[in-house]
Amino acid sequence: MGDNGTSRIGIVGAGAMGRGIAQVAAAGGCSVLLYDARSEATAEAIAFIGGMLDRAVEKGRMESEDAEAAKSRLAAADDLAAFADADVVIEAVSEDIELKSKVFSALEEATRPDCILASNTSSLSITRLAAACDHPERVAGFHFFNPVPLMPLVEVIAGIRTDQKVIDRLVALGKVMGRTPVRVADAPGFLVNQVGRGYTLEATNLVAEGVTDFASVDRIMREAAGFRMGPFELLDLTALDVTHPATIEIYEQSYHEPRFRPAMLMGQRMQAGLLGRKTQQGHYTYLEGKQQRPEEPDAPPFEGGMFWVEPGEDCAALQEIVRSSGAELDEGAQPGDESIILIAPLGTDASTHAAQAGLDPERTVAIDPLFGFAGRRTAMKTIVTRPEVMTKTHAMLTSDGTPVTPIQDSPGFVAQRIVAMITAIGSGVAQNRIATPDDIDRAVKLGLNYPNGPLEFADKLGIARVLKILEGMSTCTGDPRYRTGPWLRRRAALGLSAKTPETPTHS
Ligand SMILES: NC(=O)c1ccc[n+]([C@@H]2O[C@H](COP(=O)([O-])OP(=O)(O)OC[C@H]3O[C@@H](n4cnc5c(N)ncnc54)[C@H](O)[C@@H]3O)[C@@H](O)[C@H]2O)c1
Repeated sequence: MGDNGTSRIGIVGAGAMGRGIAQVAAAGGCSVLLYDARSEATAEAIAFIGGMLDRAVEKGRMESEDAEAAKSRLAAADDLAAFADADVVIEAVSEDIELKSKVFSALEEATRPDCILASNTSSLSITRLAAACDHPERVAGFHFFNPVPLMPLVEVIAGIRTDQKVIDRLVALGKVMGRTPVRVADAPGFLVNQVGRGYTLEATNLVAEGVTDFASVDRIMREAAGFRMGPFELLDLTALDVTHPATIEIYEQSYHEPRFRPAMLMGQRMQAGLLGRKTQQGHYTYLEGKQQRPEEPDAPPFEGGMFWVEPGEDCAALQEIVRSSGAELDEGAQPGDESIILIAPLGTDASTHAAQAGLDPERTVAIDPLFGFAGRRTAMKTIVTRPEVMTKTHAMLTSDGTPVTPIQDSPGFVAQRIVAMITAIGSGVAQNRIATPDDIDRAVKLGLNYPNGPLEFADKLGIARVLKILEGMSTCTGDPRYRTGPWLRRRAALGLSAKTPETPTHS
């Protein structure tokens, strides 16, 4: 290894990931040998990387001499014997445990005993890959994100028998490559892909239950909850034949943890060939690569009406929306006979909430309070809310220009359910010591582009509110996927931030 942390690197597999890793390694000053079982793939990859480096120069992101120097550090290898002098070999072949195990056995033969063997696998167990090797202590995960040059995160994953020095060296190498490395213990889906299940699985479950449609979930998550991409746009980009098998792998490795239970609808859509952008048909249709977003139906015209708001934390904000719309506000202690009843539950479905509060379910509409009624409002029916009540409420809520999505009854609406699942999984990652609280939030923001990390979400929205949402979902459905865990409960009980780490047992 060079004094400045640079290394002689071998990369096996010159596909989408291998070439991205080769690019950032060469740009960081490492010498890189690239090998692929298809001999033409390596030449293609080197030409592709050259083009990417030229583009970086054109866009002013790189000096031309640096780009030329990076190109000169890249070369093709004809076979694995070329890696005899490598300090680190990164495996990026297709996601197949048998194939990867064979590659690792061959690498053990081809490399020096102190050469680190790293895998870029997204979902296979590092401990299991290492167990097939004579020296599992030199095997680790080095998990980059696609497209590598634009995604700064790398997870450095220690298998059960990985030497700590190997992890330290990969962390240093990650920095040389211009990445932000986070240390992660071996776990199903590691850190980022474990948390990512919360977003896409819960969204798919919601649609499977008939709560609303794909485009509506995406709009709510973008415009109310502040995510850059809706879960179904994301699934179309990644492709279901990647996401669904990875979910099954994570579920199996976790011995059927209910939070990772695959969604039946996702499996069916994969079998039907609705994979996403790459097949032009997924949750959306694509024409010449352009997503065809269904038009949102026009909002109904304002008809006035009398609205009563249930007392509670969000009552004043909802009353203000009613007042400023020009509709009448019923200020009675109980709703008048003709008034539409607005409620703002956390975790409870509208029907159960109305029944428990003794409110007329045919006149009740629930509005999601979690993100402060900004960006986009979600209006949820009870199972028997009258259509004209929904129409009047929709028109009133949108009179200030804020769009509204009407949905069927669901404990936790859409955004509450999805964000609560992200925090539940993220706090499970913290509780199981897979990564530190700071690294969990950092990795999720960098690797998934979420507006907040899972623990930050819990702090911003209030741990007590997140717990209430999970408890409500759990009570209504009886599904253990929604159970709360000790991480959030203890920090809520002590009034501490969700990011509070635990003190050591000894000084
Ligand atoms: N694509 C992503 O978004 C992404 C993100 C993170 C991690 N990963 C992981 O990275 C790895 C590679 O994924 P990808 O998207 O680059 O796949 P890819 O299909 O684009 O590339 C795989 C390459 O491996 C080559 N290959 C197959 N068997 C080989 C062998 N025995 N020896 C040498 N080369 C061989 C193939 O010819 C191909 O060029 C997988 O483990 C995947 O899970 C992928």
